[in-house]
Amino acid sequence: MASLCCCFVLLVVSLLCGSRPRPAAGQLQDLPTMVALQRELMVVDWDPNSPSTYCSWRGVTCAGSNQTVVALDLPRLGLRGNISLISELLSLKRLDLSSNSFHGSIPSSFGNLALLEFLDLSMNKFENWIPSSLGRIRNLKSLNLSNNLLSGEIPDEFKYLERLQELQISGNNLSGSIPDWVGSLTDLRVFSAYENSLVGVIPNNLGSVSQLEVLNLHSNLLEGVIPESIFMSGKLQVLVLTVNRLNGSLPASVGNCQGLSSLRIGNNRLVGSIPVSIGNVSSLTYFEADNNHLSGEIVPEFAQCSNLTLLNLASNSFTGTIPEKLGELKNLQEFIVSDNILTGEFPKSILRCRNLSKLDLSFNRFKGSLPEDLCDMSRLQFLLLDHNSISGEIPRGIGNCIRLLELHMGSNYLTGKIPPEIGKIKNLQIALNLSFNHFRGPLPQELGRLDKLVSLDVSNNQLSGDIPSELKGMLSLIEVNFSNNHLSGQIPIFGPFQKSPRSSFSGNKDLCGDPLDFNCGDYFSSVDDSDDHKVSYKIILAVVGSGLTVFTTVSVVVSLFMLRERQEMDAKGTMVAGEVVVTPPQITAGNVFIDSLKQAIDFDCAVKATLKDSNKLSNATFSTTYKVVMPSGLVLSVKKLKSVDRTVVHHQNKMIRELERLGNLCHANLMRPIGYVIYEDVALLLHHHMPNGTLAQLLHNTTGTELEPDWPRRLSIAIGVAEGLAYLHHTAIIHLDISSGNIFLDANSSALIGEIEISKLLDPSKGTASISAVAGSFGYIPPEYAYTMQVTVPGNVYSFGVVLLEILTSRLPVDEAFGEGIDLVKWVHNASGRGEAPEQIMDARLSTVSFAWRKQMLAVLKVAMLCTENTPAKRPKMKKAVEMLLEAKEN
Ligand SMILES: *[C@@H]1O[C@H](CO)[C@@H](O)[C@H](O)[C@H]1NC(C)=O
Ligand SMILES: *[C@@H]1O[C@H](CO)[C@@H](O)[C@H](O)[C@H]1NC(C)=O
Ligand SMILES: *[C@@H]1O[C@H](CO)[C@@H](O)[C@H](O)[C@H]1NC(C)=O
Ligand SMILES: *[C@@H]1O[C@H](CO)[C@@H](O)[C@H](O)[C@H]1NC(C)=O
Ligand SMILES: *[C@@H]1O[C@H](CO)[C@@H](O)[C@H](O)[C@H]1NC(C)=O
Ligand SMILES: *[C@@H]1O[C@H](CO)[C@@H](O)[C@H](O)[C@H]1NC(C)=O
Ligand SMILES: *[C@@H]1O[C@H](CO)[C@@H](O)[C@H](O)[C@H]1NC(C)=O
Ligand SMILES: *[C@@H]1O[C@H](CO)[C@@H](O)[C@H](O)[C@H]1NC(C)=O
Ligand SMILES: *[C@@H]1O[C@H](CO)[C@@H](O)[C@H](O)[C@H]1NC(C)=O
Repeated sequence: MASLCCCFVLLVVSLLCGSRPRPAAGQLQDLPTMVALQRELMVVDWDPNSPSTYCSWRGVTCAGSNQTVVALDLPRLGLRGNISLISELLSLKRLDLSSNSFHGSIPSSFGNLALLEFLDLSMNKFENWIPSSLGRIRNLKSLNLSNNLLSGEIPDEFKYLERLQELQISGNNLSGSIPDWVGSLTDLRVFSAYENSLVGVIPNNLGSVSQLEVLNLHSNLLEGVIPESIFMSGKLQVLVLTVNRLNGSLPASVGNCQGLSSLRIGNNRLVGSIPVSIGNVSSLTYFEADNNHLSGEIVPEFAQCSNLTLLNLASNSFTGTIPEKLGELKNLQEFIVSDNILTGEFPKSILRCRNLSKLDLSFNRFKGSLPEDLCDMSRLQFLLLDHNSISGEIPRGIGNCIRLLELHMGSNYLTGKIPPEIGKIKNLQIALNLSFNHFRGPLPQELGRLDKLVSLDVSNNQLSGDIPSELKGMLSLIEVNFSNNHLSGQIPIFGPFQKSPRSSFSGNKDLCGDPLDFNCGDYFSSVDDSDDHKVSYKIILAVVGSGLTVFTTVSVVVSLFMLRERQEMDAKGTMVAGEVVVTPPQITAGNVFIDSLKQAIDFDCAVKATLKDSNKLSNATFSTTYKVVMPSGLVLSVKKLKSVDRTVVHHQNKMIRELERLGNLCHANLMRPIGYVIYEDVALLLHHHMPNGTLAQLLHNTTGTELEPDWPRRLSIAIGVAEGLAYLHHTAIIHLDISSGNIFLDANSSALIGEIEISKLLDPSKGTASISAVAGSFGYIPPEYAYTMQVTVPGNVYSFGVVLLEILTSRLPVDEAFGEGIDLVKWVHNASGRGEAPEQIMDARLSTVSFAWRKQMLAVLKVAMLCTENTPAKRPKMKKAVEMLLEAKEN
């Protein structure tokens, strides 16, 4: 009850405070500065016509009766310009200009902002030196200058910033060394200076007096040792020192830091062994020390770190065996010890780690045979055992490794037959490498079931018999190697085989056929001139082929021509029939925006075509679309808007103005209207016909078009849609119904976003339509819509993310197969929770075609994940999404 009263009082107080009295103009202390700043930065939403309301401008916080500006939060607005003026806002406590396009030097006049506690200039293009005057801002608690182009040294004057809690200067081009005074900043919690060119040693007092929780110095040129001091206070949670030149060993004092969860010291020159005190670091989840000169045995004390998820000790000089106790690590997902001098039997105990998904023992000296129950735990996705001394046969239990994506067993002493059970590993896609062993007998035909596998290497064994024709089932193969075995007979005719180099089949005395030089049964031609034969054969094929192309083109053109004539006749017939049965409706208005098309478009014909159901192409949320062939032969798609009665009656002129404006929008990826017709209470919008249908039809194959939706085409569609949408947002238009069904493909298969008129004509917030709840299509609706009931820019980004996921997975946005209450977005976001790799989400018909495609798809998947973030603020702007997609393409 008491708390309820409290709430009530608070409410009243906040209501009273909210209606603050309007001060006299003379008291608006920061008015001149804000007016000048508005002119300089041109922030959208800063209204130059009412400068006295600056306190309510976006990102501006005022305080006191003089309405002084105390905070300026303008991140991610694409701003540029001269920010020196800001230093006149002397009451500023908080200044956030991060993620904009500011460049030039950081104004040294910022040093005048004596009250500033929070300064974030990160993610801009600031260059030159950091002004030492910033050292005068004694109240500063948080300083973020990361991800700029700053150079020079860390200013010595920063030693006066004694209240500093967070100092971030990473991602610049800073040189010089880390000054000793950093170690005397008693409140420092976060120090992040990674990705610079810092040299010298880590100060040996760093962390000794501070509250240091996060120390991230990776990718610099630091040398010397990891100082004991950083572990002294015991508060450290994250330590990242990877990619430097540190030597010495990991201090035993690391055991003081029970809260240390991430310890990454890989790619240095560290020596010595891992201290047993590591077992005291009970929060440890991530330990990465690969590529050093560490030695000694792997300490069993790691087993005490019950949360350990990743242990990477690769490329060191560790010796001895894998401690059995590590099998207790229930959360371990990746165990990577490749390229050491480890010995002993295959470490069966590690198989007790039920969450293990990656086991990398490669390049060691493990011996003995593999256990039969290798895969009774089924989460393993990567099993890398190559370059060891493992002997015996591959156990038949290998067939239980159903989640494996990659299996390397090359360069061991394995014998016996390749077990047919390998064919059960249906997920295997990255590689199956059994090369350089002593396998005998025939290749099992069951290998043909591995239809996702990209790379198969069984070279350098003693395999015999034919290459089974069943292997043609390996539809995803790109790379094969059968060389140096005792295989015989004809190489099956199968694209991936014939496209391989001869060396993939060489060293098998009795093997014949393409791509080898010897044709089967052809004992006459010598090896020398067979090459010439092959060339001329190919030339003949090419000539025959091009003749065929000419022929097909001609016949296609002819039949298209005939088809068009028939369609014209049909259209005429419809008109005649229409005139006989119904009186044509009275057209009240109509226009064609493009002069050159005016003659070719007949309004009556458009109207009549929409009366016939057989012309219907599609049915969307707000409209029905018809295909109309004009008497002139021009094919249009005509969109009949639904429930526009009030729009047409009350807002006809406004609507026409909007349509004409949209008709002038100039972007290659927007499907803009070329005209309109209004009759009675109906509005028809005219568009060019899109012969290739919609993206939904392309992806979900509802048309039966011959177009092969390969990855490059999909990627360019994705980029086109992103660019169109970014342009719309740039012109302050929010699309109300982004979905793959509203993305059209023109004759060149370029993507055009359709239904853009809807957002202008039927915007419910403007009261121009009788539609009460507009949310877009099922499956594309952003989660926040449930409580905002408003489609927003981030909401568009979400819907676009769903389209990206459709493109990547070829799946529908909603599908019962995902399980109850789970849509495509949830299904993808939950994949890692289900222990599935991205390979199991993306359309394997595409991701397994080439490594390049797969890489691009993974990059696009990242973009899609960001766009479909649950929190709208975390989603990127469309402009950024375009950049990321272009980057993915360049890879
Ligand atoms: C408000 O402004 C007046 C005159 O500009 C000045 O005298 C006064 O000290 C200011 N008050 C505060 C609280 O800043
Ligand atoms: C920014 O404006 C200040 C005056 O307000 C001027 O001194 C300075 O040179 C300008 N900086 C740039 C880069 O134009
Ligand atoms: C910059 O650093 C501060 C303090 O660590 C942090 O709060 C802020 O989010 C960072 N800015 C960006 C854009 O990450
Ligand atoms: C980084 O700074 C060095 C001098 O310290 C300079 O030679 C180099 O060009 C700079 N690199 C970039 C990318 O600005
Ligand atoms: C570690 O590096 C420092 C600085 O490069 C060097 O002086 C020292 O001799 C090195 N120590 C060892 C053991 O290599
Ligand atoms: C830290 O680890 C060492 C060796 O395992 C042990 O002797 C010591 O008691 C541990 N200290 C704490 C505080 O747990
Ligand atoms: C392990 O992680 C869980 C979940 O993050 C946490 O609650 C628990 O305290 C951690 N255990 C230790 C020993 O730190
Ligand atoms: C590890 O596996 C167990 C079940 O075997 C599961 O309950 C737990 O959540 C998993 N932990 C992680 C981090 O995946
Ligand atoms: C298979 O493994 C061997 C070493 O055992 C390696 O030389 C070869 O390159 C690998 N094959 C492929 C296709 O990567």
